[in-house]
Amino acid sequence: MQTLFVSDIDNTLTGDEKALQELGTLLKTQRESQEMLFILCTGRSLSAVLEGCQTEGLPEADVLICHVGTEIYLPPFHVGMQPLVGWQNWLRSQFSYRLAEYLVEDLEGWIPQPSSNQTEIKLSGYVEGPSAEATVAEIHRRAKEATEDYLIVWSHQKYLDILPAEAGKGKAIQYVKQHLGLTPTQVIVAGDSGNDNSMFEHGFQGIVVANAQPELKEWVAQLVDQPIYITQQPAAAGVQEGLRYFGGLP
Ligand code: GLC
Ligand code: MG
Repeated sequence: MQTLFVSDIDNTLTGDEKALQELGTLLKTQRESQEMLFILCTGRSLSAVLEGCQTEGLPEADVLICHVGTEIYLPPFHVGMQPLVGWQNWLRSQFSYRLAEYLVEDLEGWIPQPSSNQTEIKLSGYVEGPSAEATVAEIHRRAKEATEDYLIVWSHQKYLDILPAEAGKGKAIQYVKQHLGLTPTQVIVAGDSGNDNSMFEHGFQGIVVANAQPELKEWVAQLVDQPIYITQQPAAAGVQEGLRYFGGLP
């Protein structure tokens, strides 16, 4: 395998069905000729990813990283399967959902996400509107005083995830590489928003799609010595453009 390609789903792959279909065909060819291993890396749950493969034309993947890097799945994929236990136990040892709840207790401006978006190691809510920045600052302030360390991720000025400090998409990718003993000649990542920031901090070649949120564009702007490409085209068309730029597609 030459290329390990890791892509976020929402607004990175999705948004233009025709472009996604075209990209899917190209990825399939690369995987079949053993040139590429492909990972979907998302904030979605496993069931929302599998549903997307059925109904949204998401390309088939070799590994799934779900719930913002807190769950890793190896094939064959099916609803209700268990995530990789080693990664799970490592994150569980650092995090208590009950303690994390103190960070948002009685906090005006915090609206919990549905229970399908919560796990033992991911506490998620909505923080948006004019007072959102102050609310996020207060969560960070409480986190500093807490006994456990947290990774706090705000995306689209709306989605707020509280995760174990060692979680996140970037570290989950590193774990997969190590666990499977992968030694690709290059790792390419693609994303569009704040929950993708951590994928861009390990020296991987980074594709930022044209429609990316300011928090990701600002994040990559201050990374020095990182190979980052901001595409001209949005979503899947941009991903294809970025893959060609880095030589991940012929
Ligand atoms: C996905 C998840 C949601 C999370 C968001 C940002 O939409 O379903 O829980 O807050 O990604 O990471
Ligand atoms: Mg996204």
